[in-house]
Amino acid sequence: MIVVKTKDQIDKMRKAGRVVAAVLQLMSESIRPGVTTAYLDRLAEEEIVRRGATPAFKGYRGYPATICASVNEEVIHGIPGDRVLAEGDIIGIDVGAVVDGYCGDAAATFPVGAISQESERLISTTREALEVAIKTCRVGKRIGDISHAVQSYVEAQGYSVVRDFVGHGIGRNMHEDPQVPNFGLPGTGPRLRPGLTIAIEPMVNEGTFEVEVLANEWTVVTSDRKRSAHFEHTVLITDDGPEILTVLR
Ligand code: MF3
Ligand code: CO
Repeated sequence: MIVVKTKDQIDKMRKAGRVVAAVLQLMSESIRPGVTTAYLDRLAEEEIVRRGATPAFKGYRGYPATICASVNEEVIHGIPGDRVLAEGDIIGIDVGAVVDGYCGDAAATFPVGAISQESERLISTTREALEVAIKTCRVGKRIGDISHAVQSYVEAQGYSVVRDFVGHGIGRNMHEDPQVPNFGLPGTGPRLRPGLTIAIEPMVNEGTFEVEVLANEWTVVTSDRKRSAHFEHTVLITDDGPEILTVLR
């Protein structure tokens, strides 16, 4: 069931979104060759707590950490640990925070030191796919319009979109209706209404769209072990267009 948010609920989601954005900013300043993903996780958790919020992922279906840290061929749900980042890696960081019972969820993919031009292009295409998706978020459009915008943008650049994992409605729960796939047909799916809050999260692969889950039962990797990038924002639909909630303001 799709439910739109009240003004009061939206205010709480703005606060949660601000915390998430601050953590991603901190991650961008902290990612460098030689640091471990567990170190980034600790920094993120300290920042969330310092801001009076709670990590949204920790304990969610047994997830053991505050962030997801997905390196290179890891698509999403990389579990932070003693892996040391190396020059040339790319790392997707996904962060969720809860404020007054409401969630914010966002992700970005960062370079570790200097990276190849191919990896730069993968990252910028994925960021742009999210921007294109957000621009589509107008009252009267449908979820399928977002899905189609992402898929056509990404595939025109020679990349593929992951199908096995999708974006989602968000609010008191991290995952609510509707699902927001990164592939699909325009003019299909639920209509966008004022007060709808959704997490849009393109996952873009260099090679095949097919993915596998590792033996840790969390980490999703590309089946061909080529690289993948991920960006995500929590977005509010308003009569005046989209408002990104996971921003610093
Ligand atoms: N942004 C991811 C999602 O929307 C984060 C989930 S990680 C989990 O599904 F550990 F919390 F599951
Ligand atoms: Co999400």
